[in-house]
Amino acid sequence: MSGKYKFTCGSPDELLATAAEVGVNIPVSHDTDILARPVKIRSVEAKNSLAVHPMEGFDGTPEGAPDELTFRRYDRFASGGAGLFWFEATAVCPEGRSSRRQLWINDGNLDVYKRIVEQIHEKSGGAPVICQLTHSGRFSKPDNTPVPIIAYHNPYLNEKFNIPADYPTATDDYLDSLHDSYMNAAALAKKAGFDGIDIKSCHRYLMSELLSAYTRPGKYGGSFENRTRLLRDVVADAASVYGSDDFLICTRMSVSDCIPYPYGFCTTEAGDVDLTEAYRLLSELHGSGLSLLNVSMGTPYYNPHVNRPYDSGGYEPPEHPLTGVERMIKTAANIKSALPTLFVIGTGYSYLRASSPYAAAGVLKSGGADLIGFGRMAFAYPDFARDMINGSFDRKKTCIGCGSCVQLMRRCATAGCPVRDRLYAPIFVENCGGKPTLF
Ligand SMILES: Cc1cc2nc3c(=O)[nH]c(=O)nc-3n(C[C@H](O)[C@H](O)[C@H](O)COP(=O)(O)O)c2cc1C
Ligand code: SF4
Repeated sequence: MSGKYKFTCGSPDELLATAAEVGVNIPVSHDTDILARPVKIRSVEAKNSLAVHPMEGFDGTPEGAPDELTFRRYDRFASGGAGLFWFEATAVCPEGRSSRRQLWINDGNLDVYKRIVEQIHEKSGGAPVICQLTHSGRFSKPDNTPVPIIAYHNPYLNEKFNIPADYPTATDDYLDSLHDSYMNAAALAKKAGFDGIDIKSCHRYLMSELLSAYTRPGKYGGSFENRTRLLRDVVADAASVYGSDDFLICTRMSVSDCIPYPYGFCTTEAGDVDLTEAYRLLSELHGSGLSLLNVSMGTPYYNPHVNRPYDSGGYEPPEHPLTGVERMIKTAANIKSALPTLFVIGTGYSYLRASSPYAAAGVLKSGGADLIGFGRMAFAYPDFARDMINGSFDRKKTCIGCGSCVQLMRRCATAGCPVRDRLYAPIFVENCGGKPTLF
């Protein structure tokens, strides 16, 4: 663990001054009233503009049902005042799970999903809950040991994860079969009472990896049509069969992988963001029924400084973390401006700690997103939304970007915030050794 950067801003003026020093432009508003603005997407209403991002806890049962700690996490989130909850990555098939304890929705555990959705609705006063449907692809570890299912050979990720050149790629028949896996999971999510589904296309899991499968032969590789086929088909079919005014079809997309072409989606050979294909894809998805986009970028496995800006982590970030925050904010704003009728949730705000409400308000006021989501902040400070809206946001309770929750996740241990939530401190000591940063 390392840490050259130390972020301490609490006030909007401190944030503005630091952003100026670093040379980035982050919208900031001193007045945060806009955080309380309700957002209506078709008939689904978020009572304010703050959301909890999907955060895997690796605490499900071996059969894929939410377990005791899963209920505890969502109980805390739901009581915290956010307007919308994006339920964590939930596998559509057993071989696509990221660990033995990742959630996996299936016929045998539907009743448990019904109970957890009911609990979130009840505790939150009816806030919408979106279920993130996923296949972990090259990061599949269904029994806690890697069994990658790769779309194509990617030198950057192959090298990092020791995938040999002769490792088999997923066949077209297998990818065809996933269409039904997503549709079955969509049906179950609707029965469970969720208010929508996310056909997850971020962070280089399988659906996300396909978007950059330039070098893959056959119907799922090469051209734009082929690389986006599975996502487009699933979104269009899920929208026509299950979508409605009160059941939203959504996606959380890495709109740029920030891995150079031809191995990253919407990234130039030099590694810069080029959203041309993202605009085209999102416009087509919106046309076939996509209502809500959760904007993400990069992958936590290769370039976590892009994906979740941090002070200390597995490597020294090659840029000031505020540059990463600015990239996420600008990218979401560019998409919102290109596709104004698509609802957009922004990501990357937890790094800003006590100054995050001012940036969230600044972005909402400038029209750069419709809702602002928080990931690590929700682990650390489940009441963040209520306190931001009431003006009582407490800097002593915020996420500090230390990465201890990520260390837990990497070890397939149950993830939470060992710094702010005492329950996870012994879990951290047992699985990661040493102590979490502020423990
Ligand atoms: C422990 C942990 C679990 C996560 N689980 C998910 C997940 O299930 N699905 C997802 O799309 N992103 C997941 N993320 C990413 C977060 O949703 C979020 O995009 C990221 O942390 C950046 O937002 P933040 O700055 O508010 O934390 C996870 C991140 C962490 C640290
Ligand atoms: S362990 Fe807690 S404080 Fe550290 S990054 Fe995760 S949520 Fe934030």
